[in-house]
Amino acid sequence: MRNFLLAALLSALACPGQSTDDHARPNFAEDVASILVRHCAACHRPGEAAPFPLLTFEDAKKRAKMIARVTGDRLMPPWHAATGHLAFVGERGLSDAEIGTLRAWVESGAPEGPRDRSPAVPEFPGGWRLGTPDLVLEMDEAFEVPADGPDVYRNFVLPLGLDADRWVRAIELRPSARKVVHHSLFFVDTSGAARAQDGQDGKPGFRGMGFASGAARGRRGESGDTLGGWGQLGGWTVGMTPQFLPDGLAMPLPRSGDIVLQTHFHPSGKVEHEKSTIGIWFGEKPKRTLTAIQLPPLFGALWGIDIPAGERRYEVRDSFVLPVAVDGVSIGGHAHYLCTDLRATATSPDGDEIVLLDVPRWDFGWQDRYTFAQPVRLPAGTRLDFVLHWDNSADNPSNPHDPPRRVRWGRESEDEMGSLTLQVVCADEADLPALRAATQQHVADGTRSRVAREAKQRVKELDDDGDGKVAIDRLPRAWRAIAQRADANSDGMLDAGEIDKADLGGGLRRR
Ligand code: HEC
Repeated sequence: MRNFLLAALLSALACPGQSTDDHARPNFAEDVASILVRHCAACHRPGEAAPFPLLTFEDAKKRAKMIARVTGDRLMPPWHAATGHLAFVGERGLSDAEIGTLRAWVESGAPEGPRDRSPAVPEFPGGWRLGTPDLVLEMDEAFEVPADGPDVYRNFVLPLGLDADRWVRAIELRPSARKVVHHSLFFVDTSGAARAQDGQDGKPGFRGMGFASGAARGRRGESGDTLGGWGQLGGWTVGMTPQFLPDGLAMPLPRSGDIVLQTHFHPSGKVEHEKSTIGIWFGEKPKRTLTAIQLPPLFGALWGIDIPAGERRYEVRDSFVLPVAVDGVSIGGHAHYLCTDLRATATSPDGDEIVLLDVPRWDFGWQDRYTFAQPVRLPAGTRLDFVLHWDNSADNPSNPHDPPRRVRWGRESEDEMGSLTLQVVCADEADLPALRAATQQHVADGTRSRVAREAKQRVKELDDDGDGKVAIDRLPRAWRAIAQRADANSDGMLDAGEIDKADLGGGLRRR
């Protein structure tokens, strides 16, 4: 009862023109419908990601109790960034008053009210969220997603065939099998490598997640974007609202070549057929270049993520000092099921800290990218600290393993990976080479320390007599070339001191 009165009071405060009495017994037509249209209908309508529509009185009445519960717990509308920090574009969320109205409506029996006062259900433009695209590409043939079994990662090749190079302001994916498409990363391939693999196993596209690194490496020279985040051209995830890049920003799109959709499917128990369509919106060449700072780089591959079974709070953090001033444009995280929370802060040279993104309850199913409502100026010398946590205990309801198993870095969704990616433009475009040099150095440093860590681990494992040294010819073959370079006193033995002093840059590639 107290909650009920509080709800009524809050609604009354939110709508001072109406008497408390009206709002103590809110009805669908006058009070509830407008909330559902504004905050729910984007997903809860036919053909969209949510499992049922919430447009009419009948839709809402059937699920009234559930609506009160999920809104009261702030599970719906889905929005995982903590509020009270920087504002983001398209922020989803209900006010306390709106939550109170929904609760009061349910508690008073979910009445319909005067049907003619109900707001008209808005027209949703024919599918595309951003209006009519400049270019629409569609898969030739549908890909069959099995009913069950492990997650499927599949790459689909869409030839571009443009008359000129273009700049892209937005790409929107429209999956045909929304129940099973978890996310999709967009790449450009100008090498023909993707096309050559397409359909080789008799099905549309080709399997695996290896393409991403190949594409990134192939384009490294051009874009310098070695810390790249959501692929080269962005991505799509369940529940995401596609957006134009802000401030006239755009991504380069070469005239020839192919767009590759790297799609992650999560089987639903029923065979599904996916025939993706993408819409692309073109713009002018931007004055400033969008670039990405991903910490830890390469989704944590260099950090040797290795989470013991039962570990409740496994942490990965990485820091990076900006060599030049930048404007933060957007930020997003990526991790798998076991991740519990992630957070990115920026500390100015004066010691002032701002929270760039705080996701206190990470949910694998909702991987959003958050665009700042205003660009965030970060002066040269600002330190970025990005941190992620994982819970590999049986108490984590998202743990795919029962009982928990040791989980290491890997590309399948039951492996783990994790990082946050901040997209920026340099405050002064002339500073771009300096920023890229620093981010590339950061990857090189990460590579070096990973190689050192692993080499020391091997030495420890093989050091039977406990003298801290191991004969190089006892090391696994893959490590010998690195060990020979590191063997400073040329005694054919490797020890931890030599590993610390060795130049191990690029060691991973040599393995
Ligand atoms: C961005 C898309 C989106 C928006 C906006 C959204 N929903 Fe949902 N909703 C979903 C999806 C997708 C699911 C399926 C469960 C999941 O994936 O989390 C869902 C599930 C639900 C469920 C079922 C929960 C359960 O436990 O089975 C309810 C009830 C619900 N939504 C109500 C709402 C209400 C009420 C609003 C508006 C206040 C809303 N949703 C806004 C996408 C959305």
